[in-house]
Amino acid sequence: EKGGYDYFMLKEIAEQPQAIADTLLGRLSERGDIVLDEVRLTDQDLRDVDKVFIVACGTAYHAGMVAKYAIEHWTRIPCEVELASEFRYRDPVLDRSTLVVAVSQSGETMDTLMALRHAKQQKARVLAICNTNGSTIPRESDAVLYTHGGPEIAVASTKAFLTQLVACYLIGLHLAQVRGVMYADEVAAVVSRLRRTPDALRELLGKMEDVRALARDLKSSSTVLFIGRHVGYPVALEGALKLKELAYMHAEGFAAGELKHGPIALIDKGTPVVCVVPSPAGRGVMRDKVVSNIQEVRARGARTIVIAEQGDDGVVAYADHLIEVPRTPTLLAPLMTTVPLQILACEIAAARGHDVDQPRNLAKSVTVE
Ligand code: F6R
Repeated sequence: EKGGYDYFMLKEIAEQPQAIADTLLGRLSERGDIVLDEVRLTDQDLRDVDKVFIVACGTAYHAGMVAKYAIEHWTRIPCEVELASEFRYRDPVLDRSTLVVAVSQSGETMDTLMALRHAKQQKARVLAICNTNGSTIPRESDAVLYTHGGPEIAVASTKAFLTQLVACYLIGLHLAQVRGVMYADEVAAVVSRLRRTPDALRELLGKMEDVRALARDLKSSSTVLFIGRHVGYPVALEGALKLKELAYMHAEGFAAGELKHGPIALIDKGTPVVCVVPSPAGRGVMRDKVVSNIQEVRARGARTIVIAEQGDDGVVAYADHLIEVPRTPTLLAPLMTTVPLQILACEIAAARGHDVDQPRNLAKSVTVE
């Protein structure tokens, strides 16, 4: 049942290229534009949207954080992402022209469901991104885009996260397309890069032996810090969440630019800092800033674990441990950079003797508020 893997989590990590491909399947027309049949919102509804809220919990919330960058960049519609458990308690400004996107693997998360109900009461349109057919969240939504990740057994979410990202990208591109903000050839260019991600991810998965060795080295650390910028920031948060929930270690993710405003005081001799470096192509300035953050933590004794794009040779000098990922456009990079962090958390947890698939105190589907 685990298909030769020691844990469901490792099996599900390995299934990610297929999960991405399955989630893209049938959603892209020959010409490379996006077809979203299950979305029961008319093009006019989507043209009327003047604000997007993404609500979700945990890992799905991190997917929403990535989505915000993509949706705002592609559609120019303001997009907020909010923890579902906080959303309705602060009386958010919602109306008919607000699109609320509820992201949930299980479709049963009570916090997300309550946020969705609140949004509907305020007349907002609700679109669910969900992995579980017929579950409550899609049933109560105006429209749904299913992720085709297949069943996720391990409590820690992996393939569901990557497929949530894909679904968010599709919605962003679709919105940009119906609103005429992106030309068809621009959409097609992103789509063709998306189509290449399963192969790129297979290539990456084939080179993870080093991460296993690294996990054995890090298993006795008292803390692991993660830094990133732009879409690398939610990836850092996700890496830290995985380590907390599986290895029961203290871990924290930061926006790299925030280090100097406080967290850098945590750095001591040997403190492991995982650094997610943006692609040098396109946004070179951002990449250079992260590289200088890496130098700063290293100067204070940190042991740096650097995740960077293949060919970004400038980072080598600052990396105690380098993990290279295939070249990917900036907004799509989390489909690559997250994966070594999943494996790292899984292997550290295993090295510490924990039950990777069933971490203590956690349930797969959180049906209480
Ligand atoms: C972490 C994890 C959780 C879930 C969260 C939301 O690995 O799995 O943080 O992402 O409980 O669950 P869903 O997506 O089912 O609403």
